[in-house]
Amino acid sequence: MLPKVILHTATSLDGRITNFPADLELYYTLAAQWNPDAVLFGSETVLAAVREDPSLEVPPEHEEIFTPPADAKTDPRPLLVIADSRGRVRCWDAIRKWPYMRDVLALCSSATPQEYLDYLKERRIGVIIAGEDHIDMRAALEALREQHNVKVMRADSGGTLNSVLLHAGLVDEVSVLIHPFIAGGKAAPTLCDPLNAGIPGLQVPLTHKSTKVLANGIVWSRYTAQKNRERP
Ligand SMILES: NC(=O)c1ccc[n+]([C@@H]2O[C@H](COP(=O)([O-])OP(=O)(O)OC[C@H]3O[C@@H](n4cnc5c(N)ncnc54)[C@H](OP(=O)(O)O)[C@@H]3O)[C@@H](O)[C@H]2O)c1
Repeated sequence: MLPKVILHTATSLDGRITNFPADLELYYTLAAQWNPDAVLFGSETVLAAVREDPSLEVPPEHEEIFTPPADAKTDPRPLLVIADSRGRVRCWDAIRKWPYMRDVLALCSSATPQEYLDYLKERRIGVIIAGEDHIDMRAALEALREQHNVKVMRADSGGTLNSVLLHAGLVDEVSVLIHPFIAGGKAAPTLCDPLNAGIPGLQVPLTHKSTKVLANGIVWSRYTAQKNRERP
C-alpha cells in the first residue's frame, strides 16, 4: 500500500520556487494541517539549505548522533525522509537536531556508494534501498508504509523530485502558496522540472479543490491529482 502524498510548495506568481521572500511561517503552519507521518526532501533541497547556512555541513560530532531517539515509534512528529542515492547529504547530525522531526531516514538505491551506506550505518540512520540507479519512489513509498507505518507523506521538495512523484502517479494532492511576487530569472527552479529527472514531456491534469486568499495577498490553491493515472 502507498501513503497519501501531498506536494506542498511556495511559489512566486511566475511559478518560481526560489528567489522570492516566501512566507515560511505560513508555509509551515499550513503544512502541519495534514498531520503527516513523514516529510520528504530531495537531496538538492538539503544541499541548497547547506549553501545558505554552511554551518549545517560541519557540526561538531558528538555521541548524540549515534543514538537514535528512544521514543521514535510513539513520537507524533513526522519522520524526515531524504532521497539521496548519490550520498551527497552529510549534515545528518544537524538535521537530527531539528525540533520538528521525530527521526531521520535516507532513501538510497543499489547505486549508492557503499562508503555512504557505512556512513549512515555508523550514525544509526535508517535506510530504505529501492531501485537500481535512481531511487524507485513507488517501491520506496511502499516500504515507508510497510516498515514505518507512513500513511500520509508531505513532499517539501523541489521541481525535480516533484516531477518524479507526479510522473510515477504517486501524488494525491498539489498544494501551492502563490506569493504576490514576480521572481523572474530563466534558470530559477519551478514547481515541476521534469527534464532534471530525465522525464520528457510530463503533463499532469489536476482538479481544483479550493482557493483561499490568505495574509498579505498570498493565494493558497489546492488541487487533487489522479493517483496511478496513465503516464503521458
Ligand atoms: N519553494 C518551495 O516550496 C521549495 C520547496 C522545496 C525546495 N525548494 C527549492 O528547490 C530547489 C531544489 O530543487 P531541485 O528540483 O533542484 O531538487 P530536489 O527535488 O530537492 O532534489 C532532487 C531529487 O530528485 C531525485 N531524482 C532526480 N532524478 C530522479 C529520478 N529519475 N528518479 C528518482 N529520483 C530522482 C534526486 O535523488 P538523488 O539524490 O538520489 O539523485 C534528489 O533527491 C532548492 O533551491 C530549494 O530551496 C523550494
